[in-house]
Amino acid sequence: MTIRPFHLSDLGALYDICLRTGNSGKDARKLYGDSEILGHYFAAPYVAFEPELCFILDNHTRPLGYILGTSDSRRYLHWTEQHWFPLLRQRYARERENFTQKDRYLRELILRGYVFKEELAEYPAHLHIDILPEGQGRGMGRKLMEAFMAALRKKNTPALHLEVGLSNPGAIAFYRRMGFSTIAEYEKSLALGIKL
Ligand SMILES: CC(C)(COP(=O)(O)OP(=O)(O)OC[C@H]1O[C@@H](n2cnc3c(N)ncnc32)[C@H](O)[C@@H]1OP(=O)(O)O)[C@@H](O)C(=O)NCCC(=O)NCCS
Repeated sequence: MTIRPFHLSDLGALYDICLRTGNSGKDARKLYGDSEILGHYFAAPYVAFEPELCFILDNHTRPLGYILGTSDSRRYLHWTEQHWFPLLRQRYARERENFTQKDRYLRELILRGYVFKEELAEYPAHLHIDILPEGQGRGMGRKLMEAFMAALRKKNTPALHLEVGLSNPGAIAFYRRMGFSTIAEYEKSLALGIKL
């Protein structure tokens, strides 16, 4: 397995991996009627905005995982409001017949857009990382994180945050191992941060 920069041909795999890890790290395919709605919010806009911050875990046949994000969450908010969410809001103006409760929730997120949280402003970058089960537990999450942080340092980004559900203790343990600590606590999630 190797880690390499994002290539546009990875886009379909990003959507697929996002869905297969979208239930607190587990497969979410059964929970969604719309197989793209998670990726529309949590994966694709990031590679459209800052593709140089996306790295792919590749087993030489197909992508097994990714890390992606933005160096500047405030700019990400403005960019997505101009270039990403308007079209999707038209597309999801109405709920679809096959929508589940989860699809409805994701549709609400798309209608709402990215929310910039002032309490996290000292940590301007944020990220998402997802690896399929066959790539997990082999040190590759650490390597993806190192590649991502190195790319942020090149951009002189001072600090990085992420949000993780309390229902995903494995991911919380992973982030703590990577040096992140708690910067905010919410009802169902934590915001973790690290200075670069
Ligand atoms: C969370 C995730 C990115 C971790 O990547 P990984 O490749 O499995 O982790 P690594 O093998 O690189 O582990 C790195 C370190 O974290 C620790 N770690 C990883 N997963 C852990 C877990 N579930 N519990 C405790 N520690 C864990 C490892 O022990 C390792 O420590 P070490 O380097 O000191 O030995 C990956 O498992 C994943 O994608 N899970 C599903 C999707 C997900 O939950 N994403 C996060 C959403 S917020």
